[in-house]
Amino acid sequence: MNNQIIQPYIGSSKIDSIYRRINELKKDKDVVILSHYYMSPELQVSTELGGVADFIGDSLALSLAAKNTRAKNIVFCGVKFMAETAKILNPTRNVFISDMEAGCSLASSITGEDVRNLKAKYPGLPIIAYINTNAETKAECDICCTSRNAMSIARSFKEDRIIFIPDVYMGQNLSSRVKAETGKEFILWDGRCEVHEQFTSSSMESLKMIYPNAELLMHWEVPEESVNSAFADTKGVLGSTGDIISYVGKSDAKQFILASECDLGATLKGMYKDKEFITPCVKCPYMKKITLENTLALLESINTEDAMQYQIFLDDDIISKALVPIERMLEFS
Ligand code: 13P
Ligand code: SF4
Repeated sequence: MNNQIIQPYIGSSKIDSIYRRINELKKDKDVVILSHYYMSPELQVSTELGGVADFIGDSLALSLAAKNTRAKNIVFCGVKFMAETAKILNPTRNVFISDMEAGCSLASSITGEDVRNLKAKYPGLPIIAYINTNAETKAECDICCTSRNAMSIARSFKEDRIIFIPDVYMGQNLSSRVKAETGKEFILWDGRCEVHEQFTSSSMESLKMIYPNAELLMHWEVPEESVNSAFADTKGVLGSTGDIISYVGKSDAKQFILASECDLGATLKGMYKDKEFITPCVKCPYMKKITLENTLALLESINTEDAMQYQIFLDDDIISKALVPIERMLEFS
């Protein structure tokens, strides 16, 4: 791993000219751009600051933004399961993503059929699906959650056993906390985020030795062993992307070790200029498939046949089934 102190984002005249063209096309074609915090820094510059993103957020905030937009076309700068969620929540809009290969190792770890098999094995147990699942997987589950509302959703069930899919590490982190409070047991699937699983105990310990005054910023998807050993003697937050951002705002610390996607560091550095962020810099290869250039190509294609390659199409039946667990989740938000 290549530990890095995150530097501020610096644009260029080439990037500025792409921003100008994208913003013209957005106006002409009635497009809104929703961008996740794990996008490359140039896709996280908001329209107010001269960039192209109308809204930047974590997966929960982006779902709400997609539900509430009036724009005819939604361009999702994130991964495919997020664009699918936007389509499910706002099916009369056209939803696009600039590379259909922008997947997720968690979403691809489980199918709808796997969930049907779990239901047959554990009849009557509620199934919580992390939002990082494909639409056909969500369609088989009782409720969705994102990393921001997972704890309150897990606590809300009256049953003693709950099935949580697909992230085994996030499931273990949640399960030990919910079990300590309520005695509830979790049955887990063996999916992993290929980014967050790389934050091992030893990588965290070596950073803590170099930066002894730094606080920890850890995502729920980091393995439980690393979380427990890192927090044994150091303060910080274990939570969602949104929790991490708000924690830094409230903390008096000047240095932070980030155990989450590297480009979240760019967001943090942009928001908190006087603070320092150090990270082993692990980038999500799926998020990085989305670039300013292919976002421009997508926008150029809208209203032509070429746009089909970028457009999210889901069966009506899947949309109506997957909407149920997503809407249940939104009641918690
Ligand atoms: P958030 O819900 O925190 O945005 O996380 C999304 C994700 O893909 C984490 O790896
Ligand atoms: Fe999936 Fe992990 Fe990438 Fe998030 S960071 S999209 S969970 S692979």
